[in-house]
Amino acid sequence: MTKKILILPGDGIGPEIINQAEKILAYLIDEQALDLEFEHGLIGGSAVDAEGVPLPDSSLARARESAAVLLGAVGGPKWEQIDRPLRPERGLLAIRAGLDLFANLRPAVLFPQLASASTLKADVVNNLDIMIVRELTGGIYFGQPRGIKKLDDGQRQGFNTLVYSENEIKRIARIAFEVASKRQGRVCSVDKANVLEATELWREVISELAKDYPDVELQHMYVDNAAMQLVREPKQFDVIVTTNMFGDILSDLASMLTGSIGMLPSASLASDGKGMYEPIHGSAPDIAGQDIANPLATILSLSMLLRYSLSENVIADKIDNAVNQVLTDGLRTKDIHADGMTCVGTNEMGDAVVTALSNQF
Ligand code: IPM
Ligand code: MG
Repeated sequence: MTKKILILPGDGIGPEIINQAEKILAYLIDEQALDLEFEHGLIGGSAVDAEGVPLPDSSLARARESAAVLLGAVGGPKWEQIDRPLRPERGLLAIRAGLDLFANLRPAVLFPQLASASTLKADVVNNLDIMIVRELTGGIYFGQPRGIKKLDDGQRQGFNTLVYSENEIKRIARIAFEVASKRQGRVCSVDKANVLEATELWREVISELAKDYPDVELQHMYVDNAAMQLVREPKQFDVIVTTNMFGDILSDLASMLTGSIGMLPSASLASDGKGMYEPIHGSAPDIAGQDIANPLATILSLSMLLRYSLSENVIADKIDNAVNQVLTDGLRTKDIHADGMTCVGTNEMGDAVVTALSNQF
């Protein structure tokens, strides 16, 4: 049976980077390399404009019926002042929660061609390959109560709640241990157990669970130290497992080690195998519509989708090779551009990846 995937372009640069991934999908379907259909749905600010909510029921329903979801990015200044529950980011959180996508895998891998694009010295980042496993449907992003209220003295107070229950910690930790057992076998759990009880429990639960994985080495690290270590000696890490908010922050940090946030894909997985795939960067409204955004993180997200949700490893490898090839050929979008390289736009980069892909068929 033909599988269906749902594409949610979103806002800002979302539609233009998604376009490039679609060119690849269209090529693969045309070549009959994939038996797949794709359709589009609304999310984020564009959904607010069209339907008044950041995640229309129809988008969630279609996501549930699809084999996987490919997402661009959401948000922008246009929607920053609207009612909080209607903000684009709430649409993203709602689909993550609605599909129970608790495990967010964010690989920070350096393409050797980009070693000089990193702000760190080449020898610090050469061969860098870290997997950040971010808890995605719990923690302070979702904890209740939350809000902004008026105090008796008239001033306003903002509040959020950091909560983690044992089962939430266990299921994300299992993913991290399993991922590590297929890599170098090392997990670093990042918390703030010296201050926050929720992460004191996090540390305890992960330590207990580690007994089930005798071949994986577990280390604990406070988040402030982890941020420092990621810049000081990033290659000490294999798999990092951490909470929703720490993972959000550390994955942006790790992306810069690889040259640009425009290079990092991600996979968000549920226990039933459902997956949503998106670049880790945001909607970059400041550069939207200018044909300068880097589409490679989205193209690599498509490759992850084919690998994890559809078991199309051979095709995923071909897409990864194609990305490798265009970088070797010296093509660079503005964010990764360097002397002697060819600066290309979003569309040109997408076309080049399709060409490099077609050369493998
Ligand atoms: C990310 C983004 C989102 C997050 C925003 C857009 C809600 O920063 O995917 O990392 O904080 O999770
Ligand atoms: Mg983020």
